[in-house]
Amino acid sequence: MASHVTPLLNNLRKGTVPLRHFTGGAAPSAGFKLPDLPYDHGALAPVISGQIMELHHKKHHQAYVTNLNAALDKFSSAQSRGDTAELSALTNAIKFNGGGHVNHSIFWTNLAPKSQGGGEAPKGELAERINKHYGSLDNFITKFNAQAAGVQGSGWGWLAYEPSTDALSIVTLPNQDPLSTLGLVPLLGIDVWEHAYYLDYKNARPDYLKAIWQVVNWKNVTERFDAAKKK
Ligand SMILES: [Fe+2]
Repeated sequence: MASHVTPLLNNLRKGTVPLRHFTGGAAPSAGFKLPDLPYDHGALAPVISGQIMELHHKKHHQAYVTNLNAALDKFSSAQSRGDTAELSALTNAIKFNGGGHVNHSIFWTNLAPKSQGGGEAPKGELAERINKHYGSLDNFITKFNAQAAGVQGSGWGWLAYEPSTDALSIVTLPNQDPLSTLGLVPLLGIDVWEHAYYLDYKNARPDYLKAIWQVVNWKNVTERFDAAKKK
C-alpha cells in the first residue's frame, strides 16, 4: 500500500470501523462490509421512517462500501503496475467512499429507538462539559442545528472532541469528509444529506434536525467521549 494512502486507511480505522472489516494485503477486495444496524429499520419511526432507514442503510451505505472496495481493488492493481497517475486519481474515491462508510457507521450507533434510550439526556462529565461550554443542552442543540442547517448542499454536522485542547466543538463538513482528517474525534454525527430526510421531511432540513434529537443515543456519544479522553 503506497504511503500516501496509508493515512486514509488509518482514518477509516479511527472512524470506529472494526479492523476485522479490513483484510489488508495485496487484495483488499470486499475488505469492508456493511455493518448491521443495532435496531430494526423501522425502530426510529416516526422520527425517521423505516423506508428511509432501509434505503439509507441498505442502498446508500452499501454503495459507499461497494465503491470503497472497488477503489481499493483498482488501487492495488495500479500499484502493481506502478501507475502513479491512477493512484493519485483514486485517492478521491477512497476518501469519499471511505468517509461515507466511516460516517454512516458512526451515525447508526449515534441513534437509538426511544425504547432503548433514544433521546435521553446525557449524564456525567459529557453533560457537565456541554452545560459549561454551551450553557445548557437545549442551547447546544439550538447551536448545532443552526450550523447543520447551514451546510450548503450535502454534508454532516458533528459534535467533535479535540484531544490536543481537550475541547468540545461543533463542526460541519461537506460531502463525506471524515472528521478524523481534521485531527478531531467524532462523538456525534448528524447526516444532513437529503437522502437522510427527504422522504419524511421533504426539503425542510430544520424540521428533521429539530426532530432527530428524540432518537439521539447519548449513551453512545458519552462512551465515545469517555474513550477519546482516555487516549
Ligand atoms: Fe447518509
